[in-house]
Amino acid sequence: MQRRQLGDHDGGLEVSAQGLGCMGMSYAYGPADDQESIRVIHRALDSGVTLLDTADVYGPWTNEKLVGRAIADRREQVVLATKFGNEVDENGARTGRINGRPEYVRRCVDGSLRRLGIDHIDLCYQHRVDRDVPVAETFGALAELVQQGKVRHLGISEAAPETIRAAHAVHPITAVQTEYSLFSREPEDNGVLATARELGIGFVAYSPLGRGFLAGTIRSPQDLPEDDFRRTAPRFQGANFDRNLVVVDKVREIAERKGVTASQLALAWVLAQGADVVPIPGTKRLNYLEDNIGASDVQLSDEELAAIEAVAPVGVAVGERYPEQAMNTVHL
Ligand SMILES: NC(=O)c1ccc[n+]([C@@H]2O[C@H](COP(=O)([O-])OP(=O)(O)OC[C@H]3O[C@@H](n4cnc5c(N)ncnc54)[C@H](OP(=O)(O)O)[C@@H]3O)[C@@H](O)[C@H]2O)c1
Repeated sequence: MQRRQLGDHDGGLEVSAQGLGCMGMSYAYGPADDQESIRVIHRALDSGVTLLDTADVYGPWTNEKLVGRAIADRREQVVLATKFGNEVDENGARTGRINGRPEYVRRCVDGSLRRLGIDHIDLCYQHRVDRDVPVAETFGALAELVQQGKVRHLGISEAAPETIRAAHAVHPITAVQTEYSLFSREPEDNGVLATARELGIGFVAYSPLGRGFLAGTIRSPQDLPEDDFRRTAPRFQGANFDRNLVVVDKVREIAERKGVTASQLALAWVLAQGADVVPIPGTKRLNYLEDNIGASDVQLSDEELAAIEAVAPVGVAVGERYPEQAMNTVHL
C-alpha cells in the first residue's frame, strides 16, 4: 500500500494511503463480532494499512478497548488516531453534550491511553467543537499533552475554516477529519478543504463510502439492522433513500464498465482528490476490507472522473447526513 503524508507540522505524519475506520466494529452499524473485527485489523496491518481510526465515544469506550487488544503486539506498525469531545461521563455513558474544557481533554486522553494500552496517541482529534469553550483553550490543553509526550499530532473533526485557523494558531494541526465522499462533497464548497491546504494540514475523509450507501449493497432502509444509526439519518429515509439509490446505481454502472466494484470506484474517487486526502473506510468484514484495499490500485482517467462528476456532482445526495440534533454539532 502506498503512503501519504498528513500535514507538514514536525515532518508530517506518514500513513497508508487509506486507513481503516474501526467505529462500526463496536458502534452505530448493528451487531459485530469482536474476533472477526480483530482479524480485520490484523489483515489490514498485514496489507500495509497503518492508520487505525477510533474514538472514545465509539461504544462508548468498547471500540478503543477492542483496538487496543488488536494492536497489543503490533504497536509499532500502527498510526493510532482517536478522538474526544462527544462527552462521555465517568461511568462510560454518552451525555449528548460536547465538551472541550481543558480538564475534560486531559481526562479523555488519559482514558484513551489506558483503554488502548499505549503510551502515546499518534493523532488526537477534537471530535466536535464545543460552542461554549474557545477552541484556543481546548488546543492549549492539547498542546500541553503534546509537550508531555502523551500525544504526537493534533487533529480536528467537523470544524469550520475559522475554527481550524484558530486551533492551528495555538498548535499546528496535522489533520482535519470530515465526512467526504461522492455523497458528501461539502468540504469542496465550504472552505474546509481549501483551508486545510492553505495551512499545510492533511485531510482525512471519513465515511468515504457514504456510510456504505455507495457500495450499492444496501437496497432499502429495511436492509439495515433495527438499531442502526443510519435509519435515523435523513439521507437513508423514505423518498430520499430512493432518490439516492438511483445515484448509487449510476456510480455502480461506471464501476462495472471499469471492472471494479462500486466501493473501489468510490474510494478511488476520494484518493484521486489529492495526495493530501486519506480516506478511512470502515468495515468489520474481511471481504469488504480486501475489496477496499483493492481501491488503492485503481487509477481513474480524466474521462472516468468526468463521467463520475456527471452522475454525482456536488450536492447530489438528498437529505442531511445526520439527524437534526447531530447536524447542529457539525461545522461550527
Ligand atoms: N469524525 C467523525 O465524526 C466520524 C464520523 C463517522 C465515522 N468516522 C470514522 O470514519 C470511519 C469510516 O466511516 P463509516 O464507517 O461511517 O462509513 P463508510 O466507511 O463510508 O462505510 C462503512 C459501511 O460500509 C460498509 N462497507 C465497507 N466496505 C464495504 C464494501 N467493500 N462493500 C460493501 N459494503 C462495505 C460497512 O459494512 P460493515 O459494517 O458490514 O463492514 C459499513 O456499514 C469510521 O469507522 C470512523 O472511524 C468519523
